[in-house]
Amino acid sequence: MPIPLQSRLPKTFRIKAIKQETEMVRTFTFDGSLGAKPGQFVMVWLPGVDEVPMSVAEDDGAVTKITFFAVGGMTEELAKSKVGDLVGLRGPFGTFYEWKPGEHIVLVAGGYGAAPMYFVAKESVEHGCTMEVIVGARGKEHLLYLEELESLPHVSLHVATNDGSVGHKGFNTEVLEKLLEACNSSVGKGGKVSKGGKKNEIDPITSVFACGPEMMLKRVSEITAQYKVPSQLSLERYMKCGYGLCGNCVVDPLGIRLCTEGPVVKNDQCVKIEEFGKYHRDALGKKHEF
Ligand SMILES: Cc1cc2nc3c(=O)[nH]c(=O)nc-3n(C[C@H](O)[C@H](O)[C@H](O)COP(=O)(O)OP(=O)(O)OC[C@H]3O[C@@H](n4cnc5c(N)ncnc54)[C@H](O)[C@@H]3O)c2cc1C
Ligand code: FES
Repeated sequence: MPIPLQSRLPKTFRIKAIKQETEMVRTFTFDGSLGAKPGQFVMVWLPGVDEVPMSVAEDDGAVTKITFFAVGGMTEELAKSKVGDLVGLRGPFGTFYEWKPGEHIVLVAGGYGAAPMYFVAKESVEHGCTMEVIVGARGKEHLLYLEELESLPHVSLHVATNDGSVGHKGFNTEVLEKLLEACNSSVGKGGKVSKGGKKNEIDPITSVFACGPEMMLKRVSEITAQYKVPSQLSLERYMKCGYGLCGNCVVDPLGIRLCTEGPVVKNDQCVKIEEFGKYHRDALGKKHEF
C-alpha cells in the first residue's frame, strides 16, 4: 500500500510528558496522533543530530508514546529533551501485529519490546482477546511496563529475570515453553479437552507475538515452530528512509525490506531468513554477527 506523502515527511510534535522508567529508559508522550497500529514504528528526528527508528508504545488517537534506551549519540541527546520541546516524527511505518477477536495470545517482551507489547495488549483486549504476557529483563530494576500491563483486564502477567531477582530465574522464552507445554501439548483438535478426556485449565494458545533482542526472537521462532503455534516477530535492521526506498534494511536471501514488509514478520517467513539470529548489517552495509 502506498505511504502517503505526509507520513514520509517529518512533522513536529510537542513533548507533553516524560516518564523516567529506569536509569537509561524514558517514555515520551507527544501531543498528537499518527494513527499508528501496534507493531508499527516512527522515525524520530532531532535536527542536526540524527534520525532513528522507534516502535510506537501507544497511539490512542490523541497522544503518541515512544519508550527508548539512551544508548548512543542520538538517543542520549533525545534524553536531554524537556516537556514542551519539539521533536520531528515521520510515520507510522511498517507492518503491525494481527489478531482475530477472542484469541488467546502470548506476548513475549524483552527490553524496550515491553512497550509495543503493551500497545498490542491494550488494543487486543478490547477485541475480547485474553493474553499471557511474559516480560523479561536482566534484573528486576530493568523490567518495563509491569504496572501498565497489570492494570489491563484479561491479562496474566509472567516475569522472568536472568538474575532471579523476581519471577522465573532465566529467560522469558523458558516461560513461553512451559506455557505452550501446559496449554497446547495435550489439546485435542478443536477444543480445550485433552486426548485423555481431561480438561485443560487454560485455553489453548492461538498466537504468539514477540518483540525484543534478536536471539530471544530466534528462540521464540524455534519454540513456536516446534509447538505449531503461529507467531509474529518484530525484526530490526538498520533503517534510513523507513518506507522502502533505500534498501538498507533488506534481509538475506528473501530481499524483503524490514521497514515495509516488516518489522512484524510472520514466523513462516522468519524461518526463511538465513541471517535471522546470525548477522545484521550496519549503516554501510557491513555484516556484524550477533
Ligand atoms: C523497527 C525498529 C524499532 C525500534 N524501536 C526502538 C524502541 O522502541 N526503543 C529503543 O530504545 N530503540 C528502538 N530501536 C533501536 C533504535 O533505533 C536504536 O537504539 C537507535 O537508533 C540508537 O541510535 P543512537 O544514535 O542513540 O546510538 P548509536 O550509537 O548510533 O547506535 C547504537 C546501536 O543502535 C542501532 N542503530 C543505530 N541507528 C540505527 C538505525 N537508524 N536503525 C536501526 N538501528 C540503529 C545499531 O545497532 C547501533 O549499533 C528500534 C529499531 C528498529 C529498527
Ligand atoms: S530503511 Fe530504506 S528501504 Fe528500509
